[in-house]
Amino acid sequence: MPLESRSLNNSFAHEVIGLRLWERQDDQVIDELRALWAYHPVLVFRRQALSEHELADFSALFGPLERTVRTDWASPVRPEVGIISNLKDAQARPIGGLGDGEIQWHSDQSYMLYPATGAMLYALELPSAGGSTSWVDLCAAYAGLPDRLKRAVDGRRGVFSYAKRLSGYQGVDRVISEEAKRKTPPILHPLVHTHPITGKRALYLDSTTTIGVEGMDQASGADLLEEIYEWATRPKFVYRHDWQVGDALLWDNGFTMHRREPFDPSARRLMKRTTIFLSREWHIVPEGNLVAA
Ligand code: SIN
Repeated sequence: MPLESRSLNNSFAHEVIGLRLWERQDDQVIDELRALWAYHPVLVFRRQALSEHELADFSALFGPLERTVRTDWASPVRPEVGIISNLKDAQARPIGGLGDGEIQWHSDQSYMLYPATGAMLYALELPSAGGSTSWVDLCAAYAGLPDRLKRAVDGRRGVFSYAKRLSGYQGVDRVISEEAKRKTPPILHPLVHTHPITGKRALYLDSTTTIGVEGMDQASGADLLEEIYEWATRPKFVYRHDWQVGDALLWDNGFTMHRREPFDPSARRLMKRTTIFLSREWHIVPEGNLVAA
């Protein structure tokens, strides 16, 4: 039977109906999900009940899983699963990362030379208010740019810096290991890519990580980026997800950014995330270069 799905709030996000992600999926289902995902960069699966292994195994149907540089957020049960939470253990140490604050528009892994651009986030405990996550469709955003801005970004590369991203984090999330520092030098990624399936052009952006544009002086690069972010994040390109326990969202960071609203620090929020190396055959996967010394 063909996969059943429907648009959410008339947006680019699609809810996939009737799949139990903890069960074995046949090849036809995976192919249909891949095809749907090319056009709808956020796929929502509701009412899931997943162990860490089930979450990781389902995610791995789309590509090898990445163990991100945030080894301090990794689950002790299945290290490819990251814990996104404000909860603390009995010694008052965070059990994961990203706490309870606002997180600005970003694309996971944009600071990596070879980013693992697939991601899945699964909700286990939620605050009664706040903590919604929004995604912006950067294909639609590119199409909506005035020609003047398309010309300004076409063929340009942005400079992406993990140091900038870290400076926006709270508390211990700002601290990384020497190995993580070594793996995250400033890098360049093209600001525009073409999707291999849809043929559409898309912006590749991350407002928490970009520090400039190659070949432009600091002020002009910053002005261009600011203007692009202002255009790209207009409400008509955005889907906002109000989480329910059991929601699992699969998204493609190759042509989206996402942001999270803050929530009451005394409320509990527990999410689990995977990060997936997607294939260039099906997805936009930026290929980075080191910034010349
Ligand atoms: C993230 O930005 O990866 C986490 C989003 C969230 O906590 O909703």
